[in-house]
Formats: sequence, structure tokens, C-alpha cells
Amino acid sequence: MILGGRGAGKTRAGAEWVRAQVEGARPLDPGAARHVALVGETFDQVREVMVMGESGILACAPPDRRPRWEATRRRLVWPNGAVAQAFSAQEPENLRGPQFDAAWVDELAKWKRAEEAWDMLQFALRLGDLPRQVVTTTPRNVGVLKRLLASPSTVSTHAPTEANRAWLAASFLEEMRARYAGTRLGRQELEGVLLEDAEGALWSSRGLEAARIEAAPDLSRVVVAVDPPVTGRADSDACGIVVAGALTEGEPRDWRAVVLEDATVHGRLAAGMGRGRGGCRTPSRGRPAGGRGQPGRRSGGDAAAAV
Ligand SMILES: Nc1ncnc2c1ncn2[C@@H]1O[C@H](COP(=O)(O)OP(=O)(O)OP(=O)(O)O)[C@@H](O)[C@H]1O
Ligand SMILES: [Mg+2]
Repeated sequence: MILGGRGAGKTRAGAEWVRAQVEGARPLDPGAARHVALVGETFDQVREVMVMGESGILACAPPDRRPRWEATRRRLVWPNGAVAQAFSAQEPENLRGPQFDAAWVDELAKWKRAEEAWDMLQFALRLGDLPRQVVTTTPRNVGVLKRLLASPSTVSTHAPTEANRAWLAASFLEEMRARYAGTRLGRQELEGVLLEDAEGALWSSRGLEAARIEAAPDLSRVVVAVDPPVTGRADSDACGIVVAGALTEGEPRDWRAVVLEDATVHGRLAAGMGRGRGGCRTPSRGRPAGGRGQPGRRSGGDAAAAV
């Protein structure tokens, strides 16, 4: 995993890594990998950035080892026979079928269907003795990235934008420094650091972890709160669904509240949510669930009615 700030050289590093996997000692000698997957945010991104971009594979390859781009088959073919196929993360189903011994994934943190596309790629990465993949991305606080970073088989490195100053316009760097140095956006976009918590957030992940309990007490009341997105398309915002309970016995100062489940649904149609496909479980202990529903009032779009 190569995390980096904007212009830090991530794409170039990915292209060089593919070269290192595919090329042999001489132009026609086989390298370690022969079946490579190139996966980007969209197919155009793969072609324009990873393959043909200034930092892409074609620009990085020396003339005697330069692969040929076969546009209709969406693939690169090297003189030694190795092939790299281009895939869009928006169409994870296309990764069903082929198999690979290496993969390069660019800007994973920006993918819309990241989980699905990532999983599909993992099922296809199964050729050779040691299939490997490189991820080059600006960090974002998204689940797939965090899980990957936490995995014992992941090796990660990171580079700030400044590290590549030799190849970036001085004016760009000055502007970036002036505008973003010391800010949260700067930590992410310039330093390439993964920020887990929102600045000034009331709830930090550490605080939440510290408040975790094994089992909920018997609750006096359970509330399901729904914050529907304005529209109900696959790429809409998530529909927030949180189940919380309260124990309201004795003095109010002794009352306790427990969050039972975050059953938030992503990319699901509003109609589906109304039929109870939200995946919200009834608490196994305590009073019957569903005492109160609290539809979010601010958004009144498709979903509110359906919910
Ligand atoms: N080792 C290198 N040698 C020569 N040029 C390099 C090297 N590394 C990066 N560059 C150049 O620096 C510039 C930025 O590199 P690159 O496009 O790889 O950055 P990036 O981190 O992918 O940027 P972005 O955040 O915009 O995706 C490009 O012009 C690239 O060709
Ligand atoms: Mg890039």
C-alpha cells in the first residue's frame, strides 16, 4: 500500500511496480507476473492515467519493453507475452472470470463501489506462487482502506507531496503550502496521512471504543432513528439507521442510553428500505423494539415517504 499526498508520485510508483513484476532480464524474458489486473476508479481513469498518463505504464517503459495497448480488448501486451487487463471499479462483475498473478489498484479510496470491486479482485488474484497487488492512493477514511492497512499481510508506506518536489512546479508547492499547511485537508492531501476522525468531532473512535459494553441491560424503551437520503439512487448518500435504547428507571441522573446497532444502509433504493430490508435486528433482550420511529426531518425526498 503506497499512500501519498497529491502529486507525491503514487501513480508513477504503481507503474514502475507493474514493470518490475512483468519485465524479465531481457526484453523477451518472462518476468514474475504474466496476468496483471489494472483497476481504477473508472475505465477512462485506467486508460488515461494508469496506461497512457504522464506517469502511466507506457510513459515509464523503455522502448524495447514497451507494451502495446489493444484498445478493443482493453489490455496491454508486452513483448514477452505478459498481459495487463484494464478494469473499472464501477463494474466489479467484470472481474468475475479472469484470474491474475498481480494487480495494480489506483486511488482505491475514491472508488464508489470499493468493497465490491476489491472483493471481486481478491477472488481473481490466484495465479502463480505468490500473487501480489499494489495499491496507490491518497488516503481517505474509508473502511476498505482501514481494513487493508490493518491486515498483517499488508506492507504500507507513505510519501508527502514535498517528497516529489523535484518534479512539481515550485509555484504549485508554494500555493499548496500557503493554503493547506497545518490544516486537516493538508494532512490528508499533502502529507498523505490517513485521518480517522473528523476534526472537532464530538465522538472520537477512541472514545467510542472505551464506551463499548458486552451486553445491553434490559431497556425501558428502544428507538429506531432513520435519516434517509434525499434521493433513492444507488449512488445516493447512505440512509442512516441507528437503534438506541434507554434505561429510564430511578432518578433521571441514573438513566442510561445504549446504542444497539448501526444498521445504516448504503446505496439501497428507498422502496426497498420501506419493506424492511434495512437489516435492523430486534434486540434479543429487553422490551419489544420499535417503540418510536424518528424520521429525519431535514430531507423530505423519495426515501422519507417510503420509510
Ligand atoms: N521517480 C520519478 N522520476 C521522474 N518523474 C517522476 C517520478 N515520480 C513522479 N514523477 C513525476 O511527478 C509527477 C507526479 O507524479 P504522479 O502522477 O505519479 O503523482 P500522483 O501521486 O499519482 O499524483 P495524483 O495525486 O495527482 O494522482 C508526474 O509528472 C510524474 O511523472
Ligand atoms: Mg495519480
